[in-house]
Amino acid sequence: MRHLIVANWKCNPVSSKEAQRLFDAVAEGIKNINNVETVICPPFLYLSDLKSGASSVKLGGQDCFWEDKGAFTGEISAKQLQNLGVEYVILGHSERRKYLDESIEAVNKKIKAALSTKLKVIFCIGSQTKELGEEMESQLEKGLQGLDKSDVADLIFVYEPVWAISTTKDKVTATPKETLAGSLFIRKILERLFDERTSQTARIIYGGSVDSQNIEGFVREGGVSGGLVGAASLDPDEFVRIVKKVALNVKS
Ligand code: PGA
Repeated sequence: MRHLIVANWKCNPVSSKEAQRLFDAVAEGIKNINNVETVICPPFLYLSDLKSGASSVKLGGQDCFWEDKGAFTGEISAKQLQNLGVEYVILGHSERRKYLDESIEAVNKKIKAALSTKLKVIFCIGSQTKELGEEMESQLEKGLQGLDKSDVADLIFVYEPVWAISTTKDKVTATPKETLAGSLFIRKILERLFDERTSQTARIIYGGSVDSQNIEGFVREGGVSGGLVGAASLDPDEFVRIVKKVALNVKS
């Protein structure tokens, strides 16, 4: 399974100049790495500038709207991202649930719109507590409602436990054992919703305080083939170290 590292810049940085500097430093740092897919998801307004430079780094949005166009003030559609040459979109991030009350029904509509415009969806799933149960099960069931098993090939599942995100109060970093349990739980639900083959071939990565010290453990023993990186993606040297650590652990 192809390994993937996604930078989620969230609402950072505050200027396009800084965004370009960050992007260029990452692109330069990983230019010789071919065995890890690297995606940067900056705020929307930097996407077109960053896109114009030739680089092996791919771009993703941090959200998208489900209609192509129309009277939806403030929204950016999946179609608009696709027309810009963006290939990925993060959907269902826990910060959108927390600060914007985003419902899983809305995420489901966004997933369908993104897939129908040929964007690859980075779908975040995770619970508030360490319990692997109803909360995640419902996110998967409702988030994937109406999808066919063939759609799963264009999804990347992120096991993103809220308790492990760097900005969560009293956060605790997950262990590889915990990410393994989380990824197996996701596979179990996917098997029930689709079938065994779909479940076994689904791409799963981990998000929550990923850094260059812990990423190896996750990809070696944690049942995931990469990471969604928030805070550490804002430091280009650290982010490049993360990608390199994954590259070293991938059998080519
Ligand atoms: P973090 O963010 O790496 O800062 O914990 C990860 C995420 O939001 O998924």
